[in-house]
Amino acid sequence: MKILPFLLSASLLLAGSIATPARAQLMASEIEAQIDSILPLLTRAEKVAMCHAQSKFSAPGVPRLGIPELWLSDGPHGVRGEINWDNWGYANWTNDSITAFPALTGLAATFNPALAGRYGGALGEEARYRNKDVLLGPGVNIYRTPLNGRNFEYLGEDPFLASVLVVPYIQGVQQNGVAACIKHYVLNNQELWRDHINVVVSDRALYEIYLPAFQAAVQKGGVWTLMGAYNQFQDQHCCHHERLLNDILKRDWGFDGVVVTDWGGAHNTREAALYGLDLEMGTGTDGLSLSTRNAYDNYYLALPFLRALNSGELPEAVLDDKVRRLLRLRYRTNMSPNRPTGRMNNPEHLEVARAVGQEAIVLLQNKDQFFPLDPNRPMTIAVIGENATRPMTVGGGSSELKAKHEISPLEGLRERFTQATISYALGYASGPPQYAQVVPSPLDADSLRKAAVALATRSDVVLFVGGLNKNYLQDSEGGDRLDYGLPFGQDQLLRELTTANPNTGVVLVSGNAVAMPWLAEVKGVLQAWYLGSEAGHALADVISGDVNPSGKLPFSFPVQLTDNAAHAFGELAYPGDSINEVYQEDILVGYRWHDTKGIKPLFAFGHGLSYTTFELGAITLDQKSYAAGETITLTCSVRNTGTRAGAEVVQVYVGKLASAVPRAVKELKGFQKVWLQPGETATVTITIDVDQLAYYDEGLAAWQLEKGDYFIYVGNAADGLVGQRRIIVR
Ligand code: BGC
Repeated sequence: MKILPFLLSASLLLAGSIATPARAQLMASEIEAQIDSILPLLTRAEKVAMCHAQSKFSAPGVPRLGIPELWLSDGPHGVRGEINWDNWGYANWTNDSITAFPALTGLAATFNPALAGRYGGALGEEARYRNKDVLLGPGVNIYRTPLNGRNFEYLGEDPFLASVLVVPYIQGVQQNGVAACIKHYVLNNQELWRDHINVVVSDRALYEIYLPAFQAAVQKGGVWTLMGAYNQFQDQHCCHHERLLNDILKRDWGFDGVVVTDWGGAHNTREAALYGLDLEMGTGTDGLSLSTRNAYDNYYLALPFLRALNSGELPEAVLDDKVRRLLRLRYRTNMSPNRPTGRMNNPEHLEVARAVGQEAIVLLQNKDQFFPLDPNRPMTIAVIGENATRPMTVGGGSSELKAKHEISPLEGLRERFTQATISYALGYASGPPQYAQVVPSPLDADSLRKAAVALATRSDVVLFVGGLNKNYLQDSEGGDRLDYGLPFGQDQLLRELTTANPNTGVVLVSGNAVAMPWLAEVKGVLQAWYLGSEAGHALADVISGDVNPSGKLPFSFPVQLTDNAAHAFGELAYPGDSINEVYQEDILVGYRWHDTKGIKPLFAFGHGLSYTTFELGAITLDQKSYAAGETITLTCSVRNTGTRAGAEVVQVYVGKLASAVPRAVKELKGFQKVWLQPGETATVTITIDVDQLAYYDEGLAAWQLEKGDYFIYVGNAADGLVGQRRIIVR
């Protein structure tokens, strides 16, 4: 008989029924029985202590009983460097450099759930090796405006795409005995005023657009922890929210895990106790100093909570429910027998990072077949732009990483294009990343631009590598972008570069859409995201043609900002009046808005070119009419009509013309990525649950499946439909 090491304490052994026979995992009922036996052994003070932080990223266990501490770490693209016990500074360890995986917008662009599983698995192994119990990610806040500073951490604008990809990511992480933490629940779709803005949104948009990826994470992914959002909804902070946490998450969805605050997201003891919060983190940072302000004992779920329990103001049951969840989390993670040991910085993880990067890159435009560039051709290439050399795992806020290495685009290109002469010019410069502060570059913009234009003039090919970066007011936490255009004078630089040398391709490194007034002047455009440790390799793989691009945009690129739904209604819709923000576009987010209002995007959701060509052929459906509970099975043939192997993403959208409620013209309901050799044809099969066609009926507070005609559209982009079929729901 094997005794679990954490249960070796005498008091627990005396309590009986807690020694466990050795086997792979405990059954859920056994875990609950063990928790039942542990709960009465804990003092009220010990239980309260478990409900709040003891340091920046840990919460206490109960050493007397061998119950371990809980260690949490950001997330979501790699395991963050160690942070000091009691402030946001880095602890400067020498053994916490990790593999940086591509940022989540990049993962979304792969449209590849299997890759999301490998991503989660590799990331979970690194978290496990670093001894973390909770990995603070993934984030699934919906991409509502291109100005949101944290879009790069999320899975795009479509609830279906995000829901499909989030599940394997979570399962991959958690198979390592490390909890994923789905965040930020919910409506945290901008950084400006994120700590207090009250989002006013219809229930319909809440259920149809903003909640589905969270629900999938809980019900399909089985996620073990969830982080509340900083903002408010219905005038209540989301980190302790009666409706969102107690009613929707825990009652309706049956979430049995732990609700964690965002750092500093708790505001009130009574609400924190009663409205669904289980673990309070980050309320203050000076817990070890002499000051008592915000010290850990003064957290809302610390002494004030204990006092309210002691006086009978709050019932013991609310505490026991939290502790039960916190113990359950430990049984799933650091108290789980046979927990894998994890690994870090191994070649397989780099391989996952590179594979995701390769599939993430989106070929937006390719005039004159500018891409790929032949790596065997002797030529002069001018690589221009700060993002060709700038580390992009640094900055951006809490998702910042200490990557063991990061291959820059310039390095990747130099490694692959050995027959070419590659010269580099900075072209423009921003300052260093600084949280919540802009530090301008001291370099002279005119001189940089002139030097770059001179280099472009004497080169065969210009590769401009620009975009946004992880500085404050770019793609970074704590603030939103101020403009839709490219920063640091890049538009002017691009105009001059293309005048000097029209043979110019652009590589955009960003997690957000940007305006492209120079689009007609450049030949090729690649959207290259933030690709982590293997960024330069993945980019060179695609630019050289070693890999055929197959990424698809997980959000729309509007021509101008006011073409985006959140920006079509004035300031109350974005960014709000600092107190309230009204989502006036309702369900018409992203391509749903473009389609329904007939506003042509610069690049549509789902768009992405290839070095080969595909033809989508005959669409067949298994039936003409369907009833609730049934599944629509659609098949479509895809042929690679070009000369290179490649992958296409078949996308299925559904729309309803006559409806009792306003509808988007179409909504993504299925997709499938398919790899084909030149000349090869395959048939893809995509299934859609008929119940997925329901709308959320606010009057009934329930999903309504309308009867009648629906259109099923098939294509390779939201604006690239090749066929449609009518079905009847009876
Ligand atoms: C962010 C979270 C993050 C936490 C811990 C917060 O500011 O919003 O996403 O996990 O800090 O770093």
